[in-house]
Amino acid sequence: RFTPRIFSGIQPSGNLTLGNYLGALRRFAQKQDEGIETIYCLVDLHAITVWQDPEALKKQTREAAAAFIASGIDPERSILFNQSQVSAHAELGWLLNCVARMGWMNRMTQWKDKAGKNAEKQSLGLFAYPSLMAADILVYHATMVPVGEDQKQHVELTRDIAAKFNHDYGVEFFPAPLPLIEGAATRVMSLRDGSKKMSKSDPSDASRINLTDDADTIAKKFRKAVTDPEPLPESLEGLEGRAEARNLVNIYAALADMTPAEVLGQYGGQGFGTFKPALADLAVSKLEPISTEMSRLMNDPAEIDRILGAGAAKADAIAQPILAQTLEIMGM
Ligand code: ADP
Ligand code: NA
Repeated sequence: RFTPRIFSGIQPSGNLTLGNYLGALRRFAQKQDEGIETIYCLVDLHAITVWQDPEALKKQTREAAAAFIASGIDPERSILFNQSQVSAHAELGWLLNCVARMGWMNRMTQWKDKAGKNAEKQSLGLFAYPSLMAADILVYHATMVPVGEDQKQHVELTRDIAAKFNHDYGVEFFPAPLPLIEGAATRVMSLRDGSKKMSKSDPSDASRINLTDDADTIAKKFRKAVTDPEPLPESLEGLEGRAEARNLVNIYAALADMTPAEVLGQYGGQGFGTFKPALADLAVSKLEPISTEMSRLMNDPAEIDRILGAGAAKADAIAQPILAQTLEIMGM
């Protein structure tokens, strides 16, 4: 009964990484090209759950918009906007705060990872983050959410919140959105530590490839990536227990549109001395056009602001009626 509609977002909290590109951006563009209605958001309200310097946030938001467009998101075919410009996100977020339970938030692994032993010192917003994310999705009645593996639990929580709302108010109002986690690179790992995901918020720049890195930097980061000394195995089973090797093979596969098994078919038996430079060349060939296009777009910040403003108006036109119906259902 719900029309297929895709929603997803990225925090404008710093340099976008190869992980964001392979796990999210590239797939956002693919979904758009499949002809599904696609709504993509720079989630600045999520970014400020941890401290953001105001001037830096503005710049990062434009840069993230440039990254979307340079990765193939066409603002004429997808809705591309900035979360804080569509007030229905924050409003539905509050309503859903009153539906979601504290215990549900407490169980979120990202909250536990980010808060660590210092939960008392975190912002209330960081704790409520998944409930705002549920609002981001549900305020469009979105049915599918392309994300990396790290966001799976939050999308599942969104389904729980939607179900509880429908149950409590005796309605079939919110859909149960599906996480779309597809491809060879749903969880790109840090280049310095195979047990951590590659993240724009990692303090070590060497741990990630930024979309704005130049060719020499990309080659150097792959050359220095932590690996074991063994050559690549001939088949997937040989990657068991070799998180770093597996990560580089997955990245290669995703960039080359191959399966990891096909990559091993080509490079099995060869050492990282051969594989790393090949991977770096491939990454440069895919990322250089993106960073070039990003710099071109960043030369005209007013045009980026215009695109985001037009996107916000389109998003608002979908979100406002759904917010109004939600309030009505709740007796307001
Ligand atoms: P980050 O963790 O880098 O700050 P966000 O929380 O803004 O990124 O996530 C934006 C999108 O990028 C989400 O869909 C997330 O799952 C995806 N993503 C982030 N890091 C990775 C990664 N290392 N591998 C695959 N996908 C990722
Ligand atoms: Na994340």
